[in-house]
This record gives sequence, structure tokens and C-alpha cells, in this order.
Amino acid sequence: MIFKRLVPAAMFVAAFSLPAAVPAHAEADAESLVNALNAVFGAHDGVRAAHTHGFCVKGNFTPTAEAASLSKAPHFNSKTPVNLIGRFSMGGGNPAAPDFQKDNVRGIALHFDIGNGNTTDLLMISAPVFVAKDPDQFLSLLTAVATKDKEKIGAFFQANPNSTRQAQWLNARPVPASFATVNYWGIHAFTFTNAEGKTQVIKYKALPVAGEVGLTDEEAKAKDPDFYRPELAERLAKGPVQFTLTAILGEPGDPVDNPTELWPEDQRKSVTLGTISITGTEDDKTCDAGIFDPTLVVDGIEGPANDTIFPMRSAAYAVSFGRRAK
Ligand code: HEM
Repeated sequence: MIFKRLVPAAMFVAAFSLPAAVPAHAEADAESLVNALNAVFGAHDGVRAAHTHGFCVKGNFTPTAEAASLSKAPHFNSKTPVNLIGRFSMGGGNPAAPDFQKDNVRGIALHFDIGNGNTTDLLMISAPVFVAKDPDQFLSLLTAVATKDKEKIGAFFQANPNSTRQAQWLNARPVPASFATVNYWGIHAFTFTNAEGKTQVIKYKALPVAGEVGLTDEEAKAKDPDFYRPELAERLAKGPVQFTLTAILGEPGDPVDNPTELWPEDQRKSVTLGTISITGTEDDKTCDAGIFDPTLVVDGIEGPANDTIFPMRSAAYAVSFGRRAK
């Protein structure tokens, strides 16, 4: 999500008069987070509680030789392209979230087919940071925003400046012209292990082969709220939409348990893991039949041990799925 941008930009950045009491301590669990998402965006039958507006695609992934030097995961060692199913989405739980919104993240979710009916998943958003460092902070944020009370919302952001970083980052950049022309980050720090047992902490980043292309504010305003889907179909009619998947190599001291902290990626080495090729659209039912689960990793990849957002996502996605599948 997100944020997956869960709340209007103004709510992140505006200077509100202070203060009003926002619960200092929240006890988040998967149910309370999904309920809080519903409180902000409305509960909509049969759809995701977050990243609701989106569509399904298919394609493949071709690893580089270097990928194997970092991880023994099957999709990084395959001699042939690995099939994948993907989904592009807008952050937040509004089924009609406008594609031209600047302060909302774009998402890409991938199931890599690693054989025998198994997949491993990777979810990325178009900003290098999330809006909360832990589930309690996320619940407090959503709870504050759901009140629609400017004082409460202002007090939250005053007390939690790390939660404003994502919107600041998005607002400093243009609206992406396409899902195919923006960078995506995996947010969490993963640990890769190669065949020799050597480990390396990394963050994923996918760079569009078409380059980063944005719209002016005027161009964005003139767009249809649902322009990304036809735009991508038109692009795909001419050839695959590709991304270079990279691993940014972490160094000692880089934060690994707080998804609101940036790594200084321009001062870090990165390794090209391979090329994601989106080759066509796919029936949305294929993507809606299950969840894209960030914790669904495979031997050679490990999630962050002390990042409490990471396991909570899996639980919250399962709650969202349970409700939308009814
Ligand atoms: C505790 C924190 C979070 C909560 C509670 C949360 C909640 C959700 C929920 C409920 C869904 C819909 C799941 C479904 O019905 O299939 C979702 C989807 C998604 N989330 Fe999160 N999320 C969190 C953090 C993150 C982070 C850090 C990222 C960054 C990569 C992220 C990226 C995505 C993406 C890309 C999707 C769309 C998946 C799809 O297309 O099916 N989320 N999130």
C-alpha cells in the first residue's frame, strides 16, 4: 500500500494547528489494521482493502549470471526465463483511486513461478520508504486519518515526522506517465545467501527500461482517472514492458528494521539481478485468486528478522483476502 498511499497528500504535509490527543499507543494486529484501512477508505465488497485499484499482467524474469553469485534462489539461478504473474496498482483502498494522483504510490506485485506449482513473491512500491516504522505506528496513522479531524491528523504527523517522508518524496517528483516509467523499491531489507553460504543484506529496486518519464501537473490534470490500464495495453501491443531488477548492497549500519528509513543508495553498490519482462495483460481473476505475500520467500532469500511491519503484512493480506473472497 501504500502507502501505498493511504491518505491524501495534504494530510501528510499540511501544517495543522496543534495539538489534539491522538492515541500515543496502539496495539495493531491484522484485523485492526484492515479495519482501520476500511475506516479510511470505506469497506468495499469483494476487493482488496489496500492497493484496490489495479490490474493483472503476465511475463517472465531472466536472471543475470551475477544474480547467482548473490543468492541460490531458483529464479536467480535459472538458465531459462522464469514465468511470472504480476499486478500493477495504486496505493490505498479506494477502488477508484485516480491514476493521476501525485502523492500516491504505484505498486507492482510479482509471483515468480519456481516450479512444481510453487511461487515466490516480490512486492514493490514507487517510493523508497513506507509510511510507518511498525504496525502500531501504522494503526495510529490510519486511526488519526479516519477521524478527518485536521488537529488530530496534524498532531500525528507532528509527533511522527518519519511518517511524512513518503509523501514528501512523492510530492517532489512528477506523476509517472505510466506504470512502466517509474522506479519501484521493495522497501524491506532482505538477506541473500549464495550457494557457498555467503550472505549479503540487500534492498530491491526495479528500474524501468523505458526510463523514468513523468507528466507535468497540467498533463496529469488532463488525464482520465483510469488512464494507466489502456496506456499499458497500448505499450504492450508494441512489445514487452521491461524493468531491470537490482539489489542495492547494504553496508554495516544501514537500517534493516525500519521501513521509513532511507538507505543512501547513491553511495551503495548495486548488482543487476535480471530483467522483468511484462509481456501481456492477464485476467484479473488470476491475481485475485490469492494474495501476493511479501513473506513468501525461498531458500537463498530471507526476510528481515526485526522489521515488525514485514510479518504483519502477510497476516493483514490474509485478512483482506478472507473478506474479499467471501
Ligand atoms: C503493516 C503494514 C501494511 C499493511 C497493513 C498493508 C496492507 C495491505 C493490504 C490489506 C493489501 C491487500 C491484500 C490483498 O487483499 O491481497 C495490501 C496490498 C499491497 N501492499 Fe501492503 N500493507 C502494508 C505494508 C506494505 C509495504 C511496506 C509495502 C511495500 C512494498 C506494501 C505494498 C503493497 C502492494 C504492492 C500491494 C498490492 C498487492 C496486490 O497487487 O495484490 N504494503 N497491503
